[in-house]
Amino acid sequence: MIEVQNLTKYYGKQIGILDVSFKADKGEILGFLGPNGAGKTTAMRILTCYLPPTSGAARVAGFDVLADSREVRSRIGYLPENVPLYLDLTVSDYLEFVGKLKGMSKKRRRERIDDVMEECGVSHVRDRTIGKLSKGYRQRVGLSQALINDPEVLILDEPTVGLDPQQIIEIRALIRNLAGRRTVILSTHILPEVSLLCQRVIIINKGKLVTVDTPENLKSRLQRSVMVDVTVRGGLEEIQSFLESRPDVRAVTHIESTDESTHSLRVESTENRDIRESLSSAVVERGFGLVGLYTTDVSLEDIFVHLVTKEDVD
Ligand SMILES: Nc1ncnc2c1ncn2[C@@H]1O[C@H](COP(=O)(O)OP(=O)(O)O)[C@@H](O)[C@H]1O
Ligand SMILES: [Mg+2]
Repeated sequence: MIEVQNLTKYYGKQIGILDVSFKADKGEILGFLGPNGAGKTTAMRILTCYLPPTSGAARVAGFDVLADSREVRSRIGYLPENVPLYLDLTVSDYLEFVGKLKGMSKKRRRERIDDVMEECGVSHVRDRTIGKLSKGYRQRVGLSQALINDPEVLILDEPTVGLDPQQIIEIRALIRNLAGRRTVILSTHILPEVSLLCQRVIIINKGKLVTVDTPENLKSRLQRSVMVDVTVRGGLEEIQSFLESRPDVRAVTHIESTDESTHSLRVESTENRDIRESLSSAVVERGFGLVGLYTTDVSLEDIFVHLVTKEDVD
């Protein structure tokens, strides 16, 4: 549905995105994850034909964003970072206005406006002026305008930014419901958001693509360099220096002590292999009491930091 090849955008000498390639399949929710300035908005503005790339190509449903921009625009719904809402219009008048702007016939507008208001949960505020709506409702109106032409592809730029926690939950549920029939690309700098919403994640940093994978795979990729939490009975210093002296251990951190002689420590392996067995037998052989041993769950946040840091060193 979406194909991006070696896409590059310079703003003068400033890099927007550099040599980015990826694909999105029909019905997929793809996440752009990256810190501020990563290039998320730049990539989205190219896909929506608002900005020409410096080099490279982007196609939506087989149509090129430069050569066939009309075809691309008619298939895309876009929720920009700051939606240009007209605060003194009512919800339905605003949607009518956007429909006209997108060249939809009167009949088509009438059909679609009722449908999108229903889909986005704003039917009951259709006659309110947008300026009187909460931020969460304004975002629903923003989604409604993106959906007005019944697009195959939805591009949502940081759709939950600035909303309160309850509104975030509601907008996420809405986005989840919108997917399936449509291909959705959403950007976020919020890590849990991608694992909640997306089937695949593209991590970008400083304009460059760092990696593309499923949230689950990203997690297991990092889990291979195992972190093990052990709870051991004995003297803390003794235990710590014993663990640190092992060749398969990179680092040991003291987490907590439940009493004088019971200590929990986090052990990080030197290589990408499971050290649970060797660690447990070594602890016992050495005469310490092994109370507990668990692999710790690595958060997507750890992965992000890991990948981005690695990229920086290259
Ligand atoms: N209109 C512009 N002129 C100059 N530089 C820009 C412009 N828009 C974005 N940039 C730069 O391009 C880079 C990527 O920005 P952006 O795509 O907005 O990132 P993100 O949406 O991930 O925060 C940043 O370094 C930003 O400063
Ligand atoms: Mg942005």
